[in-house]
Amino acid sequence: MTELNPLKVVVFGLGYLGATHAACMAELGHEVLGIEVDQLRREKIADGHLPFYEPGLSELLRKHLASGTLRVSDSYAEAAEWGEVFFIAVGTPQKKGESRADLQYVDSVVEQIVPLMNRDAIILGKSTVPVGTCRRLTDRIDQLANDGVHVELAWNPEFLREGHAISDTLRPDRLVLGCDPGGRAEKVTYQVYSRIIDEGVPFLVMDTASAEIVKAAANSFLATKISFINAVAEVCEASGADIKQVADAIGYDDRIGSKFLNAGLGFGGGCLPKDIRAFQARAGELGASSAVGLLREVDFINMNRRTRMVEIARRACDGNLLGKRVAVLGASFKPESDDVRDSPALNVAGQMQLQGASVVVYDPEAIDNSAKVFPTLDYAPTAQEACAGADLVMVLTEWKEFSRLNPTQLGSEVRKKAVVDGRMCLDRRAWELAGWNYLC
Ligand code: UGA
Repeated sequence: MTELNPLKVVVFGLGYLGATHAACMAELGHEVLGIEVDQLRREKIADGHLPFYEPGLSELLRKHLASGTLRVSDSYAEAAEWGEVFFIAVGTPQKKGESRADLQYVDSVVEQIVPLMNRDAIILGKSTVPVGTCRRLTDRIDQLANDGVHVELAWNPEFLREGHAISDTLRPDRLVLGCDPGGRAEKVTYQVYSRIIDEGVPFLVMDTASAEIVKAAANSFLATKISFINAVAEVCEASGADIKQVADAIGYDDRIGSKFLNAGLGFGGGCLPKDIRAFQARAGELGASSAVGLLREVDFINMNRRTRMVEIARRACDGNLLGKRVAVLGASFKPESDDVRDSPALNVAGQMQLQGASVVVYDPEAIDNSAKVFPTLDYAPTAQEACAGADLVMVLTEWKEFSRLNPTQLGSEVRKKAVVDGRMCLDRRAWELAGWNYLC
């Protein structure tokens, strides 16, 4: 067992990735300084309050803020003076009007911190970036670094899922590091994660381009798996086959596996959609666009699910949504999250409102965020209140609360017993036995 050697770890960006990473680095025994430039976010986090919902994370954050192992600041000078290892965890959103990733925040961290460094340092990128970014920034660091100071950049992509952020960070399937041979990055990264590497987490070291592509390829594969099963679902629907049984049966094959084979409304969120687009854009820049043409289809199938869901709703409302009252249960892009970025559920709710329906949305965690993006939709504080007087109930995010709904009781609240199970998470038999017209 390697002896734990606590490091002074700086984390730039306290969004989903950075806040989780900072708290987990403290949990691994390191001293941590989180740098966040957004004042409101910084003050909230310093106070132990997360600006987003992630099970268990605020407790972990508070524990380490209280013990002083985790601190929060906005000072790059303080970070440069104090830190030994510097993680970049800022966002790389889709560029406005383009498919490419917007790297301005990553670039800005490098531009600001490197000239302030007066000792040798290791910077580890965690943000999802297009292949070639680490190489480009390494060249830039060579220009920015002070004389006699060696700043080494390596990439350590993150694979955490929202809703499972802590366990995915402290017990990941694997750790990936892309670095140049002969540097210190491998040794220092090993030191950062020694506790979990000793517990058996595979530590895969490779060149920087490969590490960047691992992340893009992993998310592209997951997206492809979802769109694949959704494409099969359409053939099932056309042929009268049962997609649940089909997915279940193919999942028994180890080579296929049963995870990520839930057919339904498709994927959304701040990662999968933008990452498959950025991967295509980067492949295009490298002259390899035909190789990832498949991802265009994956994106198309996925977006089409949303249109299809609106069609099913319209059919359920006798061909016309105008004046119909529709209850939408679920607004976050997936359960156990309040994230509504590119949320399929909200997108469908918005489209139905555009077609004249009066839409009432309920979500256990995401109502505040939804109201900011779609202020014109109506929101209810409970599922029952959302469903009161509804002509149609749609379950669009598979929160456990919805699969536990009592269809008999809910049947007495609605005007018409019609339900669209957009995530195939309801017990069809129970709903039909309670007299509902069940569609999926
Ligand atoms: C995804 C990846 O799973 C993480 O490994 C990665 O680190 C992260 O993106 C990232 O790049 O930061 P996340 O966006 O949290 O994580 O969500 P997922 O659990 O992957 O779900 C994505 C979407 O796919 C959700 O809208 C979900 O409802 C949908 N989905 C998932 C399906 O439609 N069917 C499935 O079978 C599984």
